Amino acid sequence: MNILAIETSCDETAAAVVTAERQILSSVVLSQDEVHAPFGGVVPELASRQHLRSIGYIVAESLERASLSTGDIGAFAVTQGPGLIGSLLVGLSFAKGLAYYHRRPLLGIDHLEAHMEAAFLENPDIRFPSLALLVSGGHTSLFLLRRRLQFRLLGRTRDDAAGEALDKIAKFLDLGYPGGPVIERLSAGGSPDKFAFALPRMKDRSLDFSFSGLKTAALKWIGETKMSALHAGLPDFLASFEAAVVRALLEKVTQAAGKFPPASLILCGGVARNKRLRKGFEELARASGLNAHIPSPEFCTDNAAMIGALAAEKMRGKKRPSFSLELDAYPRFSRAGE
Ligand code: KG4
Ligand code: ZN
Repeated sequence: MNILAIETSCDETAAAVVTAERQILSSVVLSQDEVHAPFGGVVPELASRQHLRSIGYIVAESLERASLSTGDIGAFAVTQGPGLIGSLLVGLSFAKGLAYYHRRPLLGIDHLEAHMEAAFLENPDIRFPSLALLVSGGHTSLFLLRRRLQFRLLGRTRDDAAGEALDKIAKFLDLGYPGGPVIERLSAGGSPDKFAFALPRMKDRSLDFSFSGLKTAALKWIGETKMSALHAGLPDFLASFEAAVVRALLEKVTQAAGKFPPASLILCGGVARNKRLRKGFEELARASGLNAHIPSPEFCTDNAAMIGALAAEKMRGKKRPSFSLELDAYPRFSRAGE
């Protein structure tokens, strides 16, 4: 059976065709970066309008690349939340329309659960319990996966997400959007030790994250050194800031691994594309004698293949989900416990 998956939770319009055996037949992602770049961040109203313009074309393209038509689809899957409500509703309504017309089941998929699923796309044999660090533009969380589709939230950010901190500093310096990849590019060759960033300390030894302190420290450095896009010290500054964000993330992983000893480690979400983080995460895993499972870059940032793969996993061994159009979008509070 083929599953058509749709993802429109933020600023990527994505569709994919995945088989029940979790083979990806196609995965198409249209980024809206150009639309939001002038504003230095996602403008929700523009995002929903852009999804409306693109969704028909992107779904058609995903089917064409899989050499299929909508009639060949056995089930539809769509991101239900969390995300921007207007954006979510575009994907959800489109998917409902298709499911209704073809009288096929429609599965609502949680975006954060799907980011974790991306790790299983290329590594079906991940050992449990697995400790997962999910780092995206809106979320920074640690989960303990006890077995397939079963996880527990260990910690989350109390303020900014890691990606958000990178995006905000890039915006402040007028470097471009999204900030994560821009900072990665502009920090190349810079020294990560030139600017000393102190890491946040949680008084209660909790596994929660906090990035507002690092962001404030960065803003202070910017003020003191008159840092700007043209400053000769920019690569050093960005490398130091990026390295501090990575250190803060890895420190919590180490702390969590001590408290809940895992059999493997997972890194996922958009920020997992970052080379410094990938390298540091792999080194941490190696030092602990564990395997690190990190999706290929295209499956770290938002995509619909992870939505389809999670739908396939949820449907496995079950009788066909009933046909229902009752699904509603939820902007906050992931089913993953966030
Ligand atoms: O998972 P994602 O595509 O969307 C959300 O669910 O939020 O993550 C987007 C985030 C943005 O904050 C972006 O700056 C960050 O991922 N990002 C990166 C890189 N590529 C994307 N951060 C650091 N380095 C990168 N190469
Ligand atoms: Zn995401």
